[in-house]
This record gives sequence, C-alpha cells and structure tokens, in this order.
Amino acid sequence: MSEKTKVAVLVSGGGTNLQALIDKVADGQLDDVEIVRVISSREDAFALTRAEKAGITTAVAREQQEVLKELKASGAEIVVLAGYMRVLSPEIIAEYRDRIINIHPSLIPKYCGKGFYGMRVHKAVIEAGEKESGATVHYVDEGVDTGAIILQEKVPVLDGDTPETLAARVLETEHEILARGLERAVDNLKKGGK
Ligand code: GRF
Repeated sequence: MSEKTKVAVLVSGGGTNLQALIDKVADGQLDDVEIVRVISSREDAFALTRAEKAGITTAVAREQQEVLKELKASGAEIVVLAGYMRVLSPEIIAEYRDRIINIHPSLIPKYCGKGFYGMRVHKAVIEAGEKESGATVHYVDEGVDTGAIILQEKVPVLDGDTPETLAARVLETEHEILARGLERAVDNLKKGGK
C-alpha cells in the first residue's frame, strides 16, 4: 500500500465540508488520504467537534504564525480550506504553494473575491436573476478565490429560491466535489506538480 497523503483541513464554522471528507476517508472513497490535523480559526466551531469524534488531532489558531506552526507540526502535505474564513498569510501560501485547495460556493470567476462568502454569494446570485450557480474547488494563491480551478459543478437556481434554499443545494454539491478536487490535488502532487 503506498504511503497515504497527509492532509490538514482549516475550518471556521459548522464543518459540513470537513465531515464530507471524514466520511469519504472512512468509506474508502479517499483511501489514499489521511486527515492529520483540523485547525480552526474559532474555538466555538462545530467542525472541531466533528474532528474530535473522528479521532483527528485538532488545534485552534487565530494568528497565521500559529497556523503555520500547526501545519508544520502535523506533517501535512496538502492543506484544504473548508469554510475557512481567514485570508492565509503569504508565508503559508509560499510554504505550501500549489498544495492548498479551497471550496467556494459559486461558479468562479462569478460571485467570488473580497466580500463574496457564505450567504452573500447566494443572495447576489438570486438578485442577479441567475438561472444557475454551483461550486468550485480551486488552488489557493495570494489572491482571494483567484487560484487555478481544479473542478466545478453547476447547480440550478429554481423559481422561488431564497439564498437559504440555494445555499443548501450548493452545499450538497460542495460536499461531492471537494473530495474529488482533493483526489486530483493528491494525484497532481504525486506527479510532481499542479
Ligand atoms: C459554506 O457557506 C460553504 O459554502 C463554504 O463555507 C461555508 C461553511 O461550510 N465553503 P462548512 O459547513 O463549515 O463546511
């Protein structure tokens, strides 16, 4: 059995995207991945409870220097941002260049960048009268939601959708494509690059 790729997951909130990864590791869909650390920017994030229940080492780190220290201590080779609400420092981006991925709840390059996160994304999509939205897994670089796209999937916007009903539909797709995006990042790492 080849060595599993060590993955750290950065979170700030409920952790449903983290849970999707935990479940897919457990059921063998992500059999070449080991989640070695969950690092939260907030001590009250339910994502920490999800990690603890799965026996994954957790840490709370508010400052980017602390985040970097935890990442290095964990031996993580790939970093996944899953509902992480902080901007990573240039030092972390440089240390893990082309090895950090993020899940964003829109079809990048639409409805992304500064100020477009969570419910704000879905509100803007509905106000613009879009007939479709979706989710995107992308590499993280120094910009906000500007790194190379790994994969994305469309989701219909239905008549009568509220930001909440659209968010719930997009979140389901996030859970599916985050694991597939992580697999591609693992394969790219093993092949020696992006
Ligand atoms: C969700 O809005 C999701 O679109 C974004 O982060 C938020 C929380 O996700 N990626 P999670 O439930 O904490 O994974």
